[in-house]
Amino acid sequence: MVSPRAREEDRAHDTSLRPRSLGEFIGQPKAKENIGILLEAAMERGDALDHVLLYGPPGLGKTTLAHIIAREMGVRITVTSGPALERAGDLAAIITNLGERDILFIDEAHRLSRLVEERLYPAMEDFALDIIIGKGPSAKTIHLPLPRFTLIGATTRIALLTAPLRERFGVVRRLDFYGLEEMRSIVQRTAGLLGVQIDEGGVDEVSRRARGTPRVANRLLRRVRDYAQVRADGVITQEVARQALGLLEIDSLGLDDIDRRVIETIILKFGGGPVGLDTIAASICEEADTIMDVYEPYLLQLGFIDRTPRGRVATRLAYGHLGITYSKEPPQPRLL
Ligand SMILES: Nc1ncnc2c1ncn2[C@@H]1O[C@H](COP(=O)(O)OP(=O)(O)O)[C@@H](O)[C@H]1O
Ligand SMILES: [Mg+2]
Repeated sequence: MVSPRAREEDRAHDTSLRPRSLGEFIGQPKAKENIGILLEAAMERGDALDHVLLYGPPGLGKTTLAHIIAREMGVRITVTSGPALERAGDLAAIITNLGERDILFIDEAHRLSRLVEERLYPAMEDFALDIIIGKGPSAKTIHLPLPRFTLIGATTRIALLTAPLRERFGVVRRLDFYGLEEMRSIVQRTAGLLGVQIDEGGVDEVSRRARGTPRVANRLLRRVRDYAQVRADGVITQEVARQALGLLEIDSLGLDDIDRRVIETIILKFGGGPVGLDTIAASICEEADTIMDVYEPYLLQLGFIDRTPRGRVATRLAYGHLGITYSKEPPQPRLL
């Protein structure tokens, strides 16, 4: 429920709820100003935009910003992703279809194959593609000039990007979790677009539990709307939001069952840590990747866990939130 990754139900909503201009995009003031200047300068020169890399946890607006940039530049955007570009030929097919100043958006850029990545370097740097035609001794290389396009890459894991790829982006921006005031504006905006009746208290409650993540806010709002329609008179008040979110087992800070199991595992099974992420993942039968992308960033942001060279550690705050007495003593084995 609180996963910031897009789920099937989100896809249509993501598109319809997406802000369409920089002005409509709430929050992320630094990224917004930076991109605004970049856009203005490129348009004044009639030039293509520098390549842009956007990174940060899922659901914060990377895809949205890529579409906004294309719209503001008045150019076409072609959307693909790291795993979708399996062979070098897949990239060539897409890239040779781009027009002057068009945007190529590559989501999950950290999952590009080595081979495709190496083809991307000259395309980004020199706007040219070397295509090999034929096999064996008669093979020929054709040097194909490309239009000046803009690559926008998005990733949840900048550390997995190879250095040569990272260096070829002129602009690298991190998106951060949204503050409470920004989340309030986002919830208000979505409620308006969905035609949902919600009062101040309702906005507050949904905003607090949405993990600083617009995608989660939009999803929670839809679920709370359903609850209000069936169990109340359709208006989302603080009490209605509380009940609805309680029913979904989302607590006052937006933590769900998996977040709590992550913290409990560190505290109860491993004496508060340090413990490796893979061990935590195995203990609760989740994928390490999912925990790293989806759960850990928010727990780090709350200050509930720390990353140390020897593994993850639960902080005093986390003990407090779960109502477990803080002690450095290892816990006693629990007999079932
Ligand atoms: N700054 C924002 N203001 C309002 N809504 C936003 C904002 N950023 C994201 N959203 C909403 O959250 C959804 C998910 O954003 P998206 O760009 O798909 O995230 P990401 O690509 O980083 O996973 C969007 O469909 C949009 O409705
Ligand atoms: Mg996205």
